[in-house]
Amino acid sequence: MPQLIEKRRSLNKEIDVQLKEKKELEARLSRLQALANIGTLTAMVAHEINNILMPLGNYANVALQNPNDKELTEKALKKTVFNSGRASEILESILSIVNGESAEKRACRLKQLIDTVFSCIGRDFEKDCIKLKMNVPEELDISVVPVQMQQVLMNFIINAREAMIPGGGSLIINAHKEQDSVTIEIADTGSGITAENMEKIFEPFFSTKTPQSPAARAGSGLGLLFCKEIVESHAGTIEVESKPKQGTKFIIMLPA
Ligand SMILES: Nc1ncnc2c1ncn2[C@@H]1O[C@H](COP(=O)(O)OP(=O)(O)O)[C@@H](O)[C@H]1O
Ligand SMILES: [Mg+2]
Repeated sequence: MPQLIEKRRSLNKEIDVQLKEKKELEARLSRLQALANIGTLTAMVAHEINNILMPLGNYANVALQNPNDKELTEKALKKTVFNSGRASEILESILSIVNGESAEKRACRLKQLIDTVFSCIGRDFEKDCIKLKMNVPEELDISVVPVQMQQVLMNFIINAREAMIPGGGSLIINAHKEQDSVTIEIADTGSGITAENMEKIFEPFFSTKTPQSPAARAGSGLGLLFCKEIVESHAGTIEVESKPKQGTKFIIMLPA
């Protein structure tokens, strides 16, 4: 009997030690997870800032090369000012996330967010033979962190454009509100996505774009991951429908 009690005591001790080790491991894991998140976030931000900086350099060049064309120079400089403002806005929102402040959601006109994205991308879609068909009610409000939702829309729109180069096509943006949700559809008539790739498109660093591909730029493979993170942080969902060589439709659902 005393032997049994002794055994039980030592077993209990062992359990205590194991529990303590488990707690320590869990704490370490959560610290490592936080570090991993920072790594992903850094890569994502670099991707976004790059999206903004690339056209910014082009605008500055246009201004430099056409000093006598006042109108063109002014337009290029306005876009430069706008893009640099957006870059610092993004960095500020990241700083607020890192500092633990929650970026604030507010009611925004979806149509205005989309218009801002188009003025930001700068490049004329008509030049790439891409027709824009937009059906978004002027007064449709969504409750979002504006700078984050702009990045989401921008990623989808840039992906759609790149899927239609060369050859052109149509970019179709529709949105409507139902009782408790808002649906935004961004569709293109571009290259489409194969069933095999469909499973990977939201994975970090998955990209089919190389400098040799028609879009002529290497993809970072972070755009869609970034979209997913942001939409889910707004309690929304993303669905995809695609047929190779016919086109792709991304459906974003947000709570109203
Ligand atoms: N509209 C689209 N049409 C065709 N393929 C797309 C579309 N959007 C995304 N994809 C596919 O998903 C991949 C990942 O997209 P993304 O995360 O934005 O990275 P990136 O654009 O840097 O390649 C793309 O490389 C492409 O293969
Ligand atoms: Mg992309």
